Amino acid sequence: MPSTAPASAATPPAPSPSRRTAFHPLTVAGVRRLTEDAIEVTFAVPEALAGSYDYLPGQYVALRTILEGRQIRRSYSICAEPVPGEIRVAIKRDLGGKFSSWANEHLKAGDVLDVMSPSGGFISKHPMNGLNHPGDLDVAGEDVFVAVAAGSGITPVIAIARTVLASSDTARFDLVYANKAAMDVMFLEELADLKDRYPSRFALHHVLSREQRISPLLSGRIDPEKLATLIDSVLPTPQVDEWFLCGPFELVQMCRDTLADRGVPAGKIRFELFSTGQPGRPEGSAGRPVAVDPGADSYSITFRLDGLQGKVASPTHARESILNAALRARPDVPFACAGGVCGTCRAKIVSGTVEMEENYALEPDELEKGYVLTCQSRPTSREVTVDYDA
Ligand SMILES: Cc1cc2nc3c(=O)[nH]c(=O)nc-3n(C[C@H](O)[C@H](O)[C@H](O)COP(=O)(O)OP(=O)(O)OC[C@H]3O[C@@H](n4cnc5c(N)ncnc54)[C@H](O)[C@@H]3O)c2cc1C
Ligand code: FES
Repeated sequence: MPSTAPASAATPPAPSPSRRTAFHPLTVAGVRRLTEDAIEVTFAVPEALAGSYDYLPGQYVALRTILEGRQIRRSYSICAEPVPGEIRVAIKRDLGGKFSSWANEHLKAGDVLDVMSPSGGFISKHPMNGLNHPGDLDVAGEDVFVAVAAGSGITPVIAIARTVLASSDTARFDLVYANKAAMDVMFLEELADLKDRYPSRFALHHVLSREQRISPLLSGRIDPEKLATLIDSVLPTPQVDEWFLCGPFELVQMCRDTLADRGVPAGKIRFELFSTGQPGRPEGSAGRPVAVDPGADSYSITFRLDGLQGKVASPTHARESILNAALRARPDVPFACAGGVCGTCRAKIVSGTVEMEENYALEPDELEKGYVLTCQSRPTSREVTVDYDA
């Protein structure tokens, strides 16, 4: 995932994309229905916690609550440009999904949820400041942005688009937004407002897979052929400085492959996945109960978190992740998706070796430095030490 350049000396430093995360109870200030299957939720951030909820457009928060007697946590991208005193997310109902169905049916103003401080690297590489300085985006000389979003993938993208367009008189933002039908389009009015406000700098291309639009290019699923035509005929491709991709796994991978085939450097492409698209238990192995028999063969896992050292035994036969084992010793070990997509569980290997199953969150340079996703990593040496603070 990308990182930001340092903020200028004249302004306070931007929040670090990988800052240590912490949960605080926040009150829901309002719930607004966006579509039949999606809501926008606004959390009030008390002044005393303002520093913990500073964020960069494109970042997400994890929400935590108890449903049916079990703790559940899910990540949601922040859908507004940085505004002091509030955090806004949009939650689309996932068919059969536990948290999103509950939120769409029951969440209301006055409810309190645990909200993790913002995190994530789906952010522009341009120097940006957080909460109190959304106008300080430096886009001089490099001001053409394109995003391809689908469904709820619009959430981080609309925050980025709003910030970019408001921050510069020259920035251009093209958005390809794919949905099944017009009734599924989240932020329909807000996107139309952006278009009215920036008619020459914001181009919006709605693509509907189950509705016929006047242009055949904007009807049907985005497949490699349609994407190629969009890239060649509609988007300002040669001038694009940054690409933002957010949507289902297959669409994001197809866009990445297509752009790579066309020679777009990987450094210009940012992407965010909400899931790996793999069927299976959504929370992976995080929190899986594992009984530890002191006499049994086990790995020894040592970890550092918030300056404190923890140690836990992990039975070799359990083949559990480092995260799963560490949670037995410290329930506050950070994680959100447990599926290798969000990067919240990142830690640095200090000694020993691990094998990492999936990685959709760490950049090659982070891997080179020894960072791993602990939700996806299992020990391969008798003793392993990781540092969550690194
Ligand atoms: C960084 C990040 C940002 C995100 N941002 C957003 C956002 O802005 N907006 C948004 O709407 N979502 C977002 N998501 C996705 C969100 O976190 C949740 O994954 C989503 O809302 C589904 O959660 P759920 O509890 O409703 O579904 P879950 O209960 O987690 O189920 C997910 C899917 O798995 C299926 N399923 C459930 N149990 C099983 C099982 N045992 N076996 C097989 N399949 C099963 C369900 O039918 C459902 O389709 C984001 C995710 C990440 C990682
Ligand atoms: S918790 Fe999301 S990548 Fe590990």
